[in-house]
Amino acid sequence: PKVVYVDHTGVERVVEAAVGESAMSAAVRNGVPGIIGECGGNVSCGTCHVWVRDEFLADVGGPGDMEDDLLDLAVGDRRAGSRLSCQIPLTAQLDGIVLDVPPEQV
Ligand code: FES
Repeated sequence: PKVVYVDHTGVERVVEAAVGESAMSAAVRNGVPGIIGECGGNVSCGTCHVWVRDEFLADVGGPGDMEDDLLDLAVGDRRAGSRLSCQIPLTAQLDGIVLDVPPEQV
């Protein structure tokens, strides 16, 4: 699936990800600025925070309990679409998903 990462200036970076790969891993592998993934996807750093665009929220779903707590501590505003990208496994259904990267992380 394709994943579109948009930075705070509106620059889009389109990445081709593998099914089952996380949106954090696809970003790090392709050098997308602002998605750091310091803890390697263990829900303990919050440096993979993204805002999922509204139209994809239903398919992505909400955060789990640990993720929910960590999102309160992540840099960047907490919004309705806030998710930790390491907790978003990519599927064919999510092809074309658009994720905004908080400016504080870039
Ligand atoms: Fe650390 Fe996602 S990579 S919480």
